[in-house]
Amino acid sequence: MEVMIYPTYEEMSREAARVIADLLNTKPNAVLGMATGSTPLGLYRELVRMHKEEGLDFSRVTTFNLDEYVGLGPQHEQSYHWFMHENFFKHVNIPPQHIHIPSGTTSNYHAFCEWYEKRITECGGIDVQILGIGSDGHIAFNEPGSSLMSRTRLKTLARQTIEDNARFFARPEDVPIYAITMGVGTILEARRLLLLANGKNKARAVAQAVEGPVTSMITASALQLHPDALVFVDHDAASQLQMRDYYMWIQQNKPGAPKT
Ligand code: GLP
Repeated sequence: MEVMIYPTYEEMSREAARVIADLLNTKPNAVLGMATGSTPLGLYRELVRMHKEEGLDFSRVTTFNLDEYVGLGPQHEQSYHWFMHENFFKHVNIPPQHIHIPSGTTSNYHAFCEWYEKRITECGGIDVQILGIGSDGHIAFNEPGSSLMSRTRLKTLARQTIEDNARFFARPEDVPIYAITMGVGTILEARRLLLLANGKNKARAVAQAVEGPVTSMITASALQLHPDALVFVDHDAASQLQMRDYYMWIQQNKPGAPKT
């Protein structure tokens, strides 16, 4: 795992965008795993800027989103379909038929989940999966207790997650209690993982994920099992990392390391 600590959210977002842009420069038909939530907004803004100002091309890119609320159609303003369209897809040139987001309104969730997994494989697997982290340490909607080998499926959300996400809804009772989500096992199959976290309220979850034991109680800790996991955090989110100085030391000395 490579932990990179940035002084600000903006800098963290810019560097994360650089990872995606470098991938697209070497592999223009890359498959990107997308995440929602407030954390990746800065990354999406920067990618949109690169598209508009520097001609970063998404025309051959395919995307798979991590999750969606059950019961919310794509026109619902709190759906992840809507979020992705408003914050990213409508500003770049990804062909609509290349975009995959779990359906929150399918009539057969089981069949849909199987199809979603199959589709990821057919497209060659995910090159980089962008991830946020919930305050309870979850990735996507893999709440505490989710098997580290889980696949795309329907999940009941934890109370903590419902409370955290209530800020986006008019009334707390409007927050859906079910979601469809890629599993931890699905996520671990991506060739590279890029987890982003900012703010003090994520500091504990980040420390547990990076330095705690690998446990299904903190599903982000599964990143420790991945051979190419990047963790980009701002100072606040890094504040409870015990090895913070060491990560910064590595980051500082990285440019001088022998090239392979
Ligand atoms: C939701 C999403 C996660 C996201 C998390 C944190 O639970 N399913 O993918 O990482 O929220 O969201 P935020 O970035 O807004 O803190």
